[in-house]
Amino acid sequence: MELKSKHILGIRDMSAEDIIHILNTTKEMKKIVLSDKKRVPYLQGKTVVTLFYENSTRTRLSFELAAKYMGANAANISASGSSVAKGETLIDTGRTIDVMGTDIIVIRHSMSGAPHLLSKNISASVINAGDGMNEHPTQALLDMFTIYEKRGSLEGMRIAIVGDIYHSRVARSNIWGMTKLGAEVCIAGPRTLMPKEIEKTGAKVFDSIQEAIIDADVVMSLRIQLERQKSGLFPSPREYSKFFGLDEKRVKLAKPDVLIMHPGPVNKGLEISSAVAEGDKSVIDEQVTNGVAVRMALLYLLTGGKEIADIN
Ligand code: CP
Repeated sequence: MELKSKHILGIRDMSAEDIIHILNTTKEMKKIVLSDKKRVPYLQGKTVVTLFYENSTRTRLSFELAAKYMGANAANISASGSSVAKGETLIDTGRTIDVMGTDIIVIRHSMSGAPHLLSKNISASVINAGDGMNEHPTQALLDMFTIYEKRGSLEGMRIAIVGDIYHSRVARSNIWGMTKLGAEVCIAGPRTLMPKEIEKTGAKVFDSIQEAIIDADVVMSLRIQLERQKSGLFPSPREYSKFFGLDEKRVKLAKPDVLIMHPGPVNKGLEISSAVAEGDKSVIDEQVTNGVAVRMALLYLLTGGKEIADIN
């Protein structure tokens, strides 16, 4: 089954059917990630370029590893070390990469909509690796996969997403995706970090972290994005932690087998305590591993990957 679009720009416009297809393909790719022989020829002859205008560890490295594990040519461009620093526009940079024979460009940009703009001006497929405060679709896919793999389905799950919702493209993509898959998404954070009209996404909004967490199957803590805050949106880190930090006492409000998630990087002791982030309910490390598998699945499907059964 082919995906409906040749680009991965967001979860908002992705069908539940495509999401499930990606998650099932990820299951197969994870076997390769966990194997001793991380080399399959699915992308032989293909070229993947990561174009990052913002910092990244997990997303960029996992795309590079995903491409290499499948035999693709992989290259990376950072804004600071490229002709972007000389003033080259996004479209001109994209076209330059495109005409070198690139099949997929993976882009992270501080401007919401940058991947969409790029996709309209080049022939390669475009994957959004995070655009401003809009979406981070591949993170949401790996988050949904982490739950899907452990629980078999997201249908009927109560999923709490807590923290800096306003700046979080991860929260937006996850709300779109998780509700499409039948989960009830409960969000909580300081009012100053809650976007207007967020209820329209289908999420239930709570003022306190306790109300959002009660009986949750999954609790996702979000990073406080200090780099995107021009003025203080909460009184102090200590105050934030007191009212919205995820600690062991608060985790007890959730179901006993709750999954604790965080997209990373983690500010331990601020939005989540070290004990919770490193505790036995935490699947934060698995999220990182799953990030490679989900990105393999996306690269594979966008380059015309057949049903996995056909290539085994
Ligand atoms: N979760 C995430 O996007 O992490 P990086 O910024 O390290 O890629």
